[in-house]
Amino acid sequence: MIKGFLEKQKAKGKLLQAFRSGELYLTYKSGKNTHLILPIIHYVGIDKEAQLLTYVFSIPLGLDPKEVIKKRWLFEQQFGQNLEIEQENKRFTLKIFGKSYPKKLKWDFEKLTESFEGQIPIPCGIDRHGRIICIDLVENPHLLIAGFTGSGKSTQVRSILATLIQYFSPEELELWLIDMKMVEFQFYRNVKHVKEDIVVKGKDVKPLLQKIDDELERRQELMFNEGVTHITQLKEKQPFIIVAIDEVASLPNDKEIDEYLVEISNRGRALGVYLILSLLRPDSKNIDSRLKGNLTCTMGFKARDRINASVIGMKGAENLAGDGRFLMSIPDYDDLVELQAPYLSEKGLEKLLKDYKKTDEEIKKEVEQKQIDEVKGELSEKNIFGVLDNEKA
Ligand SMILES: Nc1ncnc2c1ncn2[C@@H]1O[C@H](COP(=O)(O)OP(=O)(O)OP(=O)(O)O)[C@@H](O)[C@H]1O
Ligand SMILES: [Mg+2]
Repeated sequence: MIKGFLEKQKAKGKLLQAFRSGELYLTYKSGKNTHLILPIIHYVGIDKEAQLLTYVFSIPLGLDPKEVIKKRWLFEQQFGQNLEIEQENKRFTLKIFGKSYPKKLKWDFEKLTESFEGQIPIPCGIDRHGRIICIDLVENPHLLIAGFTGSGKSTQVRSILATLIQYFSPEELELWLIDMKMVEFQFYRNVKHVKEDIVVKGKDVKPLLQKIDDELERRQELMFNEGVTHITQLKEKQPFIIVAIDEVASLPNDKEIDEYLVEISNRGRALGVYLILSLLRPDSKNIDSRLKGNLTCTMGFKARDRINASVIGMKGAENLAGDGRFLMSIPDYDDLVELQAPYLSEKGLEKLLKDYKKTDEEIKKEVEQKQIDEVKGELSEKNIFGVLDNEKA
């Protein structure tokens, strides 16, 4: 009890010292003496388990509240950089975190998913309290990963896809990948979860999206026939489908492509089809506003400037440190939360994926099956013409 009191007094003294040395006070003279009117400290909270020190203080009437925000350096000098200041009129809450983000959070499947309880795990990262955040894509359908060059988008996509591949069997999850830069998704070639060829050419984008659209139709019909409202309620389980597109802005400029994407974002959530998109510059030219409105989960990595950050509602993303730091709004949290993304290198991914690739034998069989299907298709076309010819005769 006494120990706690003394600790609080000591903590109070430290803050008062900061006010003094940063001249965060008003003065008045009486006679020869100058008196200081310091801010009043209303509350000091020490949470040892969370390693969190909280102060609530208010500044004297007449002192500009902006001064406190401007003098953030003052608190940093006294308490270190790992702090937060919130303002409500002339009242401030100052939080000082003992734990800081690790410089790197190594991607670790077990650690990232151990407390996950939903259906599709999206490992996000670690917060300043050391808590791992892993959200459910079913609850937060469609994900946008935005950020400037080198901010960590591809690394995050890598960590998410690696987690999903390890979490689901190929019967439970299908990945449909589009990568116009031809660099990010090459590693996933011949992975069992990747059902269609990875699209790397503009001309192949529309046919793939058309196929997804057909699948949406098929699923909707199934649900209609069984009278259910969500894909998970069907008698025969359908795999989740994730359509991942690296750099949406590099897709061909085509109204129909935009429409397909909007369509997936509208209907996919009930049908088990979800988008994961990455985007360098989130301005309105690069992403349809209807599509943007349907992406319920956004990760804002370091943005080029304030405008780019605010377009996707990630105010402050322009000030992030880079190297996998990002902002995100998380269910049950009021504000945007800053997180450190896990790190998985390309080499690490390659090593991991070895266990999930098709064997040469399986690839050969698939190629043969494709050829048979093509020949069958050609034959049936010929038949139709044959019938037509007969009719003419
Ligand atoms: N989570 C992370 N932890 C630590 N370092 C990271 C993390 N993410 C990215 N980095 C560092 O930043 C570099 C660039 O990351 P990445 O390639 O993911 O960026 P990007 O946003 O995809 O860039 P581009 O727009 O050029 O494709 C990485 O090579 C790595 O050094
Ligand atoms: Mg990238």
